[in-house]
Amino acid sequence: MAPTTSSSVTLNINGEKHTLSVDHRTTLLDALRERLDLTGTKKGCDQGQCGACTVLVDGRRTVSCLQLAVAAEDREITTVEGLAEGERLHPVQQAFLDLDGFQCGYCTPGQICSAVAVIEEHAAGWPSAVTDDVRPEAGPPPLTPQEIRERMSGNLCRCGAYVSIVEAVARAAAERTGATGVTEEAAA
Ligand code: FES
Ligand code: FES
Repeated sequence: MAPTTSSSVTLNINGEKHTLSVDHRTTLLDALRERLDLTGTKKGCDQGQCGACTVLVDGRRTVSCLQLAVAAEDREITTVEGLAEGERLHPVQQAFLDLDGFQCGYCTPGQICSAVAVIEEHAAGWPSAVTDDVRPEAGPPPLTPQEIRERMSGNLCRCGAYVSIVEAVARAAAERTGATGVTEEAAA
């Protein structure tokens, strides 16, 4: 008997269920873009190096070019199309817009999805590679520009918009906690 090479999967994307038959080798990125017309998620390198394809899977950042669609069944997937609430942009989207945190449409969706998760990871107290005190009781480290740069380092921009991106992430994080003054620090 010939081996089965495709399966029916149900993907829960931005709160909507989509059932489709996919070849087992289909990446989540290709399923989103080529099968479901969710083209907000971009294909840059297609090998896990640029972050352009970043989506959230169960709230965590995932490079969708390295995730098989069949392995994403029953997970909660959020793409850049699912961040806004109706006409109201997500605070990260608004901050990118207000502070010119983007130049092209290619890296920006991945940057924004990543930033949304970065802010939550930081608020939950997850340390990064540049966190000085990683003891759980130390709590979340200050979200310095260095912390933001490290945490966003999986998302590449080929044209150098990083300064504004750091500022936008800092502002959205400050809005989440009600803190002030982070934006000025990030701009330094
Ligand atoms: S397209 Fe997925 S990391 Fe570059
Ligand atoms: S703004 Fe998209 S690659 Fe630089």
